[in-house]
Order: sequence, then structure tokens, then C-alpha cells
Amino acid sequence: MAEQNEILLKIDKIYNPPEKVLKKALISKEKFDELYEKSIKDTENFWEKLAEKELHWFEKWDKVFEWNYPTYKWFINGKLNITYNCLDRHVENGKRNKIAYIWTDEDGNEKKYTYGELLELVNKIANGLKSLGIKKGDRVVIYMPLVIEQLATMLACARIGAIHSVVYAGFSASALKMRIEDAKAKIVITSTWTKRRGKKIDLKSVVDEAVKELDFVEKIVVLQREGDNLTLEENEIDFYKLIKNQSPNCTPEIMDAEDPLFILYTSGSTGKPKGVLHTTGGYNLYTHITTKYVFDIHEDDIFWCTADPGWITGHSYMVYGPLSVGVTSIIAEGAPDYPDPGRWWSIIEKYRVNIFYTAPTAIRLFMKYGEQWPAKYDLSSLRILGSVGEPINPEAWIWYYENIGRKNCSIVDTWWQTETGGHMITTVPAYPQKPGKAGKPFFGIEADVVDKNGNPVKPNEVGYLVIKKPWPSALRTCWGEPERFNKYWSEISQYYFAGDMATKDEDGYIMILGRADDVINVSGHRIGTAEVESALVAHEAVAEAAVIGIPHEIKGESIKAFVILKQGIEITDELKGDIKQCVRKELGSLAVPDEIEFVEKLPKTRSGKIMRRVLKAKELGMPLGDISTLED
Ligand code: WT7
Repeated sequence: MAEQNEILLKIDKIYNPPEKVLKKALISKEKFDELYEKSIKDTENFWEKLAEKELHWFEKWDKVFEWNYPTYKWFINGKLNITYNCLDRHVENGKRNKIAYIWTDEDGNEKKYTYGELLELVNKIANGLKSLGIKKGDRVVIYMPLVIEQLATMLACARIGAIHSVVYAGFSASALKMRIEDAKAKIVITSTWTKRRGKKIDLKSVVDEAVKELDFVEKIVVLQREGDNLTLEENEIDFYKLIKNQSPNCTPEIMDAEDPLFILYTSGSTGKPKGVLHTTGGYNLYTHITTKYVFDIHEDDIFWCTADPGWITGHSYMVYGPLSVGVTSIIAEGAPDYPDPGRWWSIIEKYRVNIFYTAPTAIRLFMKYGEQWPAKYDLSSLRILGSVGEPINPEAWIWYYENIGRKNCSIVDTWWQTETGGHMITTVPAYPQKPGKAGKPFFGIEADVVDKNGNPVKPNEVGYLVIKKPWPSALRTCWGEPERFNKYWSEISQYYFAGDMATKDEDGYIMILGRADDVINVSGHRIGTAEVESALVAHEAVAEAAVIGIPHEIKGESIKAFVILKQGIEITDELKGDIKQCVRKELGSLAVPDEIEFVEKLPKTRSGKIMRRVLKAKELGMPLGDISTLED
């Protein structure tokens, strides 16, 4: 009880940024407020000035912004190549020998790549892809572990104008197949394996399985790792063989600001995942600016984002943002707590990491291991700590602040989404912080908390989180499904509805409460209930299924499934395991329910829709709410 009170006292407190942050910060609180005002009053001018100052363009735009509801464009007719901004200009401006990435793995192996080396690698891969017939606009699926070749392959696609679609290497063959098929990818690039907790995980066989029936896939490029010597089929080619004799020069394709850069699939509340499409100019600018100011990047900083390029966080804050800004980043393959729970802290100590960006689920995992683990390491290089992926509970915030930040770092709790491309709500490092509240909208972002009709709710009242106008890195469409894109801008007035519930306090700080829709957030990963349910009914014994998210100490939410078996099927533990295995096969381990409960009936509306809300309320022992539409 005493402990609980102590935490409550801490939550109510405002945390002012430490001296160490204030002394260095690129923008002060006052400056932020002033610039924010400007960015809202004259948004186009604000972004135009930054686009001129911060990026290289082959040709200037005619117009900054055009909005034909619901579609919008930024930097109309502007020409650029994002890889020129990420690589060439640094190499030309004296940073050829600056380290771009330091890669490390669970065994402590290390590889360093300078901006100059990275540019050459990217160009060789780009030329290799060209030699396979890949042209501007073609889609390339990347299913690789967190190695330099993965990031370089993304950049190589961007170099020649091919659209990459990275699939997280934990997804199953059928999840991968769905994505390759939807994007109609000509080429899939993979690797033999990745290593997690000391165990090799085979990736190549997943790809084999996924492409079996997809005859439009022309080639599989395979990165063989140390010690591998696979016999490749006719339609397969070795990664290094492909690039070995390629030139290290490749003229960047001149891209229109609105030319597609990548597709990234993400789950929604219904149907199959949607292919969120991002374009070149606005995305480059917005990820550059957010990286610079939210992480307060200085020339000699070491930046570490613990995500994977399989997710948007990896695209924006491991690849495009950090490289465009020209910082040195750490990338670490493998698990956070292997060989022991000190792994991450030892990396911070060894490389003198200044800015560290991770997810609440990881923080809660380390809370469980205990503070003695980070305590063993010198973490004094840290200045800024970031959080992303799900609401950070105040207890975890404070633990992070005290045990990792040693009360001497700012925390930036960044709310954003696959669709938003970059950070939308946070406090910049020199801004006072409130544990559990993401904070304020970033430059150019008009965020609000509103009711169903789009009217602002009162301070501290729960409502829907919306963004009132398009921003430079907003998704442009859903690949092949424009109606799903339109939905984002039409559910609540003509605002962008993010799908989250939130509150806003008297100081304008926004607190994110979680999803408003049937999306579950497991360890910061979005999982659609509909997808898991259809994976469950793919099992021959299952007649019907419904899934809900329930609170979980470490994962934030975990999946619970309610399953109706077909007639005459006997309930056994083996059957449970079998059904779980079926979900693993359909979607991947991330989506496997922790718990399966066999039931006779599911609560449904008279029109036959499953009322997950009722299941959840029952499960958590909460009031059932309005059940007037319940069938029975
Ligand atoms: C959903 C987006 C953005 C990269 C990772 C996830 C939740 C994300 C926060 C945060 C509270 C957050 C939201 C959002 N979310 N960041 N700082 N505080 N919730 O990207 O897979 O597109 O998921 O993640 O619910 O809608 P994503």
C-alpha cells in the first residue's frame, strides 16, 4: 500500500528535463511552443522552409500541398531520391568515414559500416536488382533478419525506385504468402537464418513454402550466412553472387515526391492486413525532422532503436530518419535478454549510446528481472530515452526513468502508427514530461480528442483521438484498396481517425488509452481479432471462434480465444496445442493465443456479429454495458 502511494505521488509529478538535456537541446520548451504555433498557423510555409533547408532536391516543387479530400499530396512535382539524402550527400560532405551502423549479435560479434561503405553496398545491390530486371514501381518483398544487408536492400530498392515491402521475419509462411501475393512482388529477398536465444531459426524454408504456388515471383535472392552452402534452385540466386561484380556506382532514380517508397502491411479490425503505402518526399522530410528534434540528434550522438525493419519503427527510425540526419546507429540482432538480462545494458555501456528507443513491453520484461541487472553497467552516456508501441504505464515509465535514465535523462513517449509514418504526439526532450502521457502534438500536427461527431470532449474526458489535417508522412492509400484508405478520413467527421481512445488534460497533454476497435496490441504489435479468428477456424475441429485482448503484465495485452468445437469433438490438452499450432502456422508466433477456452456459445447480436466487448467484460469481471442488441 505504501509503495502504491509512493507511485501515485510520482505519477502526479511533472518531470522537468535534467540539466544535461537542457544544456544540449536543439529546441527549448519556449522555442517548441513558438514553432508549433507557427507550424499550425502557416503549415505549408513551415514545411516548405524545412524541406529547402534540410533535404536535397533534384528539382523544386511547384506547390507545397494539395488536398482533394480525402486524398492529398505534398511537394507537388518536387524531385528527389531518399537514398541521396540518406547517403550520397553525407559522403560528399565529409562524412564518408563516419560510421552509419554498428551491428552486433547475441554472441557479441560486431561489424561496422561507414556511410561510404554503405553507399557502395547499396549501389551494388541496386545494380544487382536492375540486372534481374527490377524497375521503378516493381515490388520487392524483403524477408530477412536484422543484418546490414536487410537495411541496405531496402535502400537499394529506393535507389532504383522499386517499392519495398518488408515482412517481419517472425511471420509464418502463409502470412508471408498473403503479403507477397497482395503486392504482386517480382522478387523475394531472404536469408538462410536468424539467431534468437542461441537457436538458429530457418527463414529460407518459410519462403520456399510461401512462394510455392506464386508463379509471378521471378526470383528468390538468398543471403547465405557464415558457414552456409545451400544448393540453390534455378529460380534462386545467392545474394553475394548477385552483387559481386556489380559497380559500386548507381545513379539514383529521379523520384517524384509522390512516387511510392514502400508498402508495409498492418492489421486492422476487419479482414486481411492492409498494405499501407508511403511516398517519398513528405515521408523523407517528416522522418528527418522528427528524428532530429524528438531525439535531439547531435553530430557525435550514438542512437539505438531496438526495433526491427519489419515494423514501421524500423523503417522510420532505424533506416530513413537516422540516415537522413546522418547519425551513427546501433543495430542488434537477437533477443534482449540473451545470453543474460544484461545484454542491452552492456551494449549501451560498450558503445556509449546516447539515445535509446524501445518499447514498454521490453521495459516491463526488465522490471521483472530486477534493477540489479542494469545497475551493473555504466549507463551514464544516455541522455534521451524513447518509448513506442503501446501506452507506457506510469510504473514502467518511472522504472525506466530511475533505473536506466538514472534520473538524468528525458523520456520521449512517442505515439504514432504505421499509417502516420512518423512521431505524432510526444514531448520533445526539453519539454516537461508526465509519466503515462505521450504529451503534445508535434509540429504541423493538429491532434484532438473528440466525440463520435468530431466535437472536442472536455479536459480529461475519454474520446477518440483524431488528426484534423493531412501531414507530410501520412499514408497515401492502402495498396489496391482505396476504400480502406477513405475509411480513415470518414469515420469521425473528415478527420483522420487513428483508432485509439485518449484523454487530453488542462495543459494539453494527451494520454493514449488504447485501441477503440477490435485490434489487440501484443507487445507493441498490432493483431487483428478477425485474422486470429479465421486462423482458428482454419483448424478442422473448430466451428467458431472469438478472440479478445486481456491485460498482461509484460506484453501489455495477451490473446484469449473462445472456441466452439464441431460436434462430437473431444476436448484434450493435445487439441489445444494443436489449435495453437494452427494459428502459428497461419500467422506466426506473435498471434498465438495464450489461452483457449472451449465454449458452447458466443454472445452475438441479432444480426450475428460477435460481441467481443461482452466477452471481455465478462472475462475481466466488469459491467456488461449495453446488451440490448444481444441475441440471447
Ligand atoms: C498503434 C499503432 C508506431 C510504431 C509502433 C506501432 C499504439 C503506438 C504508442 C504510444 C500509446 C501507442 C496505438 C497505435 N501505440 N505508440 N507511445 N502510446 N499507444 O505501430 O503497429 O502501427 O500500431 O500502437 O494503439 O494506434 P503500429
